[in-house]
Amino acid sequence: MTVTTKSSSDWYRALANNRIGGPLSQQLGLPRPAELRRYRPGQPLTDGPALVGNAGTGSLADHVLSLPGVEQVSDATDRLGALVLDATGLGTLEELSVARDFLSSGLRRLGPSARVLVLANPPDQADGVTAAAARQALDGLVRSLAKELRDGATANLVYVAPDAAPADTDSTVLFLLSARSAYVDGQVVRVGPSVGTAGSAGVAGTAGAAGVTGSPHTGRVVVVTGAARGIGAAIAEVFARDGAIVVCLDVPAQGDALAATSNRIGGLALQLDITAPDAPARLLEYLAGRHGGVDVVVHNAGITRDKLLVNMDAERWDSVLAVNLRAQLDLNAALLEPSSPLRSGGRLVSVSSTSGIAGNRGQTNYAASKAGIIGMVRALAPVAAGQGVTVNAVAPGFIETEMTAAMPFGTREAGRRINSLHQGGLPVDVAETIAWLAEPGSGGVTGQVVRVCGQSMVGA
Ligand SMILES: NC(=O)c1ccc[n+]([C@@H]2O[C@H](COP(=O)([O-])OP(=O)(O)OC[C@H]3O[C@@H](n4cnc5c(N)ncnc54)[C@H](O)[C@@H]3O)[C@@H](O)[C@H]2O)c1
Repeated sequence: MTVTTKSSSDWYRALANNRIGGPLSQQLGLPRPAELRRYRPGQPLTDGPALVGNAGTGSLADHVLSLPGVEQVSDATDRLGALVLDATGLGTLEELSVARDFLSSGLRRLGPSARVLVLANPPDQADGVTAAAARQALDGLVRSLAKELRDGATANLVYVAPDAAPADTDSTVLFLLSARSAYVDGQVVRVGPSVGTAGSAGVAGTAGAAGVTGSPHTGRVVVVTGAARGIGAAIAEVFARDGAIVVCLDVPAQGDALAATSNRIGGLALQLDITAPDAPARLLEYLAGRHGGVDVVVHNAGITRDKLLVNMDAERWDSVLAVNLRAQLDLNAALLEPSSPLRSGGRLVSVSSTSGIAGNRGQTNYAASKAGIIGMVRALAPVAAGQGVTVNAVAPGFIETEMTAAMPFGTREAGRRINSLHQGGLPVDVAETIAWLAEPGSGGVTGQVVRVCGQSMVGA
């Protein structure tokens, strides 16, 4: 199963990386958008060994070094694929200085698309004000560092709850170190104790996509809404690559494109309008009858009907809210009923948007629906946890799709450049992030909104 990682027609990136345009853009002080390293089966976890260090009293560093694919640097001159700081247990400004020292000592050795990863405990679970301040300080440090890195390198922070088992962090650490997280930059992810038994899958459940062994979604039943094209088709491809039985769902009007996607990935096509009053009942009946259950539901289907609020009619408002939010609320409610075919260890993942975080002119309906998704995810996570189910969202920024290709030149260029990686993301970047959240080993990640935006300044 080949997953599309083809770069877009980003004329500026091509120019800034050729023999003539490269020096010119450097002279003019313009950014050089790097060719990002993306996941290919069999590739090493990182492009070069990792330097792993400590600042604090925690002991996660040894655990990280034991993960498959994490290779400790042995030569002081080797170019680094990753710089990992275990700052768990950090609670003083002196330890914060140790963190700075470690990170800055490794920065000059980072290779292209290298990863900087900081692990710490959450500020809101600190003993005392100083410890809370020192842990929160890491947030500012990492987000700023992400803006300073070059050549496709990224920096992210993981707040690990003190009661999480080391294995609960595995899927997240491996994802953020790997090429799968190419467009996830400057983010803060929280990991707690796994909500379900599936969390004990740990490394075994995650290593496949990291290019080590196995396939994390083997045999799992995954539904992707809006799978006929764009981001939805990429999500279906990634889950199929990782071993899932993928049910590709879209409206009947997209029947041909839907069939093309499902045939390409060896999945199943289901024509259904998610806004139909009987859609949840029909989908659940299909899943129970045909597959005996479901493990992952990805709410990707979405529409836009842009207009300034002053000109926004009820039809535009209602249709966007119906597809983007109401259908998800109704389907999730049905999926969490006791009679539901959703299995324990289930994963619900929604596609929100940075517009739902920052707002966007002309998109009051769309942004309201995408912000509503964030509210839904946060409220539903504690409820679903009792059933061993996680609920998360991704918030894509500028992603190269047919939709963004149709934007006016100026708007498109601005969208591409106002992020730390100076380029748009690809549908596969959103898909890889969703696949990580849906892994059996990601039971400790719930109620979160992870931006896939290259650290876009929009809503930052
Ligand atoms: N492209 C971006 O830059 C971007 C950025 C942020 C968020 N998103 C979100 O990502 C998701 C996918 O976006 P895309 O760019 O691939 O869009 P797209 O328009 O290419 O694909 C959306 C799919 O959803 C399907 N769909 C719409 N209404 C449906 C319904 N009632 N029932 C079933 N299927 C339905 C469509 O037929 C289509 O195949 C959307 O939720 C979108 O809001 C996209």
